[in-house]
Amino acid sequence: MRVLVLVSGGGTNLQAIIDAVGNGTITNTEIVGVISNNHDVYSLTRAENAGIKNEVISPKDYPDRSSFNRAFAEKLDEYKPDLIVLAGFLVVIPQIVIDKYEGKIINIHPSLIPSFCGTGYYGLKVHKAALERGVKVSGATVHFVDAGTDTGPIILQKAVYVQDGDTPETLQKRIMEEAEWKILPQAINMIANGEVVYNKPVDMRN
Ligand code: GRF
Repeated sequence: MRVLVLVSGGGTNLQAIIDAVGNGTITNTEIVGVISNNHDVYSLTRAENAGIKNEVISPKDYPDRSSFNRAFAEKLDEYKPDLIVLAGFLVVIPQIVIDKYEGKIINIHPSLIPSFCGTGYYGLKVHKAALERGVKVSGATVHFVDAGTDTGPIILQKAVYVQDGDTPETLQKRIMEEAEWKILPQAINMIANGEVVYNKPVDMRN
């Protein structure tokens, strides 16, 4: 399975995928590329160190969103990916890409969906909201990407206990270590080995 990983930042989830491919936790999989929307992020160094092709494509380098979206879609196609993994990728995926790669894009979100997800819930904001609500359990979710924000079919979830005295930073770190870095590689391995079937969600509105 040809996997293309999209990133925006430090890339600890990318590293977890690289390590899992390297040590055989993920089988039947090659990481064919890493694409970042930001220059100078450590994700690119991680890809470089692992000998993986990497490049930047940023909306800031295009005159408008539709020209970026076209270029972005063409860029993804160049890699001929079987699976696109959003590993902390903060750019909204254009509809043309969602349509073309339906059932072939997955995302990791740092909460138990449907809690603390959707527009505006990213990074530390997710953990801040969870602590403010006073939940005793949070966690992470790997899901397929559809046209909504964090609304696609769920593949895997893992719960993580909130501890007394947690800050958004400590909760984020524990959720990464105990959940994200485990279930993202696990989901990729399951997809690579045919253990996950994408069922197009039924529209219940009619
Ligand atoms: C993670 O918390 C992930 O769940 C979220 O963005 C963060 C990315 O971190 N979508 P990293 O770049 O993988 O370290």
